[in-house]
Amino acid sequence: MPCLSELSELSEHPAFRLAFGVAGAACFGTFVLWRSIHGSLELHGPPHIPSPRDAAMPALSEDEVRQLPYPSDALPGARDVQSPYGSTRVYEWGPADGRRLLLIHGISTPSIALTGLAYSLVERGYRVMLFDLFGRGYSSGPSPSTHQYDSALYTSQILLCLQSSPIPWTSFTLIGYSLGGAIAADFTSYFPNLVEGLVLVASGGLIRTEHISWKSRLLYSTGGLLPESLIERLVAKRLWTGPVEARSIEPEIATASTSSSSDHDEPKGGLRSHAVYTSSNIVLLPENPYSTVSHVVDWQIIHHQGFIPAFISSIRYAPIHNQHQRWKKIADNIRNGTGKLNQVWLVLGEIDPIIIADELVEDAQATFGEDIVHIKIVKGSGHEVAIDRASEIVDVVEQML
Ligand SMILES: *[C@@H]1O[C@H](CO)[C@@H](O)[C@H](O)[C@H]1NC(C)=O
Repeated sequence: MPCLSELSELSEHPAFRLAFGVAGAACFGTFVLWRSIHGSLELHGPPHIPSPRDAAMPALSEDEVRQLPYPSDALPGARDVQSPYGSTRVYEWGPADGRRLLLIHGISTPSIALTGLAYSLVERGYRVMLFDLFGRGYSSGPSPSTHQYDSALYTSQILLCLQSSPIPWTSFTLIGYSLGGAIAADFTSYFPNLVEGLVLVASGGLIRTEHISWKSRLLYSTGGLLPESLIERLVAKRLWTGPVEARSIEPEIATASTSSSSDHDEPKGGLRSHAVYTSSNIVLLPENPYSTVSHVVDWQIIHHQGFIPAFISSIRYAPIHNQHQRWKKIADNIRNGTGKLNQVWLVLGEIDPIIIADELVEDAQATFGEDIVHIKIVKGSGHEVAIDRASEIVDVVEQML
């Protein structure tokens, strides 16, 4: 962990100040306080929600292991990085002397979603790193009752992953998809000296809040209107896709992209819109028919106790909406020559019902300035753009670097 004084930029963030304030107190030897906090957590159960690797996998039969939609050896170069926040699953492979690319997945489908993209980049000679966000895939995570899944937590997780590598990650390109894009932009705004390229794919960050329906506001409200256990059940129900036969063919996406009425139950757009829950059936791992986005999400609902709480906490606290200030910081750094970045790329699905291309282009151009932001709209693609149109993103990376 870096010295506290090096975090002056970060420490502007109140949540980060809180987190590192606690760490600071521990540094200065208030061991007794730490002991009593730690002790009380132990009394109320483990501080981390375990990943399926610790919780569910040991009990599986060979057959069940073969049918895992996201097997624990899905990608090469796996390691599990331990930290005070829990364990993070990291994958890193590709030539050690290649340009470095860190890929950040979206809110519900872990690293496996970016399999195609990662392999294509390695084929072009890049070194890639992917990791499962806390509470997703094979990462455990802090309990959302003690930690918010916010900028502070995700920034810390990225730094942990980078520091865990046997090779130095002191200059790299960030590719973030959906929630991962929001996290990538946020990180870049704090660490201009680390990030040499930024590609935001169907990215959150500036999602317009008008897209949040009253239902969704109620569901994710933090005012204690609904008991947390009920919220978790309702969200699990919305995310659940069930067996293939029972699933309709993404009706919400069709509705969302054709309907513009604001009195519709769920307005179009936004990570909470129904559309995000209708998953694609593209096979993510060759020769594993179970490895679809839908199966991976359902598997997490059943086997990862941290998944639904992490999802809910991310919707509430992650830097998905109204990040104009942080995005502007990126542009300021580019303009005044701080750091390595000189452009930002947006890759957007032309018919994405969640991240609406026209809106994000308008908002990003206004925030960054048209000279800094470069835009690629992928024709005919929806929100799955990072999953099924990986080659378009590879082209952007090659053009940029
Ligand atoms: C450049 O802009 C950033 C972001 O606003 C600011 O923090 C930094 O102090 C500026 N640096 C210079 C050299 O003006």
